[in-house]
Amino acid sequence: MAGQVDALYIFLLLVTGSMAVLVFAVLIFFAARFRQRPGVRAEQIEGSNVLEIAWSVIPFGVFMVIFGWGAFVFFQERTPPADATEVYVVAKQWMWKVEHAEGQREINELHVPMGRDVKLIMTSQDVIHSFYIPAFRIKQDVLPGRYTVEWFHATKPGVYHLFCAEYCGTQHSGMVGNIVVQAPAEYEAWMKGTSTNPLSESGEKVFAEMGCSTCHRSDTQGRGPNLQGVFGHPVQLEDGRTVTADENYLRTSILDPGSMRIKGFQPIMPTFQGLVNEEQVNQLVAYIKAISLSQPVNGAQTSADRAVMGDAMENQGQTAPLPSGSKVQ
Ligand code: CUA
Repeated sequence: MAGQVDALYIFLLLVTGSMAVLVFAVLIFFAARFRQRPGVRAEQIEGSNVLEIAWSVIPFGVFMVIFGWGAFVFFQERTPPADATEVYVVAKQWMWKVEHAEGQREINELHVPMGRDVKLIMTSQDVIHSFYIPAFRIKQDVLPGRYTVEWFHATKPGVYHLFCAEYCGTQHSGMVGNIVVQAPAEYEAWMKGTSTNPLSESGEKVFAEMGCSTCHRSDTQGRGPNLQGVFGHPVQLEDGRTVTADENYLRTSILDPGSMRIKGFQPIMPTFQGLVNEEQVNQLVAYIKAISLSQPVNGAQTSADRAVMGDAMENQGQTAPLPSGSKVQ
């Protein structure tokens, strides 16, 4: 986004700068032209419609250009591409904890491949923080109790500063880190250097350990809804609302199940607030996504995936489009 943000910013500087120069030039010119002279009486000048319309319509046009251009950049920045690599970020006083879809964990550091879209799914386990990478011109608040998202596409290898940009307590200024952008081959090597389980596999384990699978069965409709194919699709709630099952929906359903109950199911699910930590919630979300999407998440295909998605994949290959509406704000 850096080039686009900079172009808009430079445009703003040019417009405001040239207007400032114009205003001062006219001011000085008029001060000299209409200065007091002995024996010359000031002449009353009546208004000019042409002038007044011109100085209303021209600025309006300029502001609409700024508005349209700004909105275009804003929507691009707010809309992660559907096939972006997903990375989960958990902020806490005072560090950044990162977990890749492939399972690699990092603290205050994020390795990403050059030339790939990367989507960060972020939450905080205590107060409000803000994930700020000045070189990429992106900044997004990270809030407790919900997910926020930002994305980027790094174009040059290197190490870039990561800052917390929201005052979050004593060591806020020390809540910094590095974004390490590597060439694809180098990145693959880094990935291989650590042996871990994919995020969705860890989630599958948590799912079993917490007993979720006794109600949310994959073979049939149990006491809880079958979660195959839920992610990214609209669900009808008991209170009549229809919402899209995105990351925030899954998160709320785990931590506060009463508030988002799917129509036709009894309110028997207990809250998992306090029983699972933020990392485990992320793993559960990654798992439910993995069993819902027709594309395996970064190769982390589960047996449930194959059972449900087998037919669809045979027909459409790997190019099946992702469900729409799976954005998070
Ligand atoms: Cu975290 Cu400031």
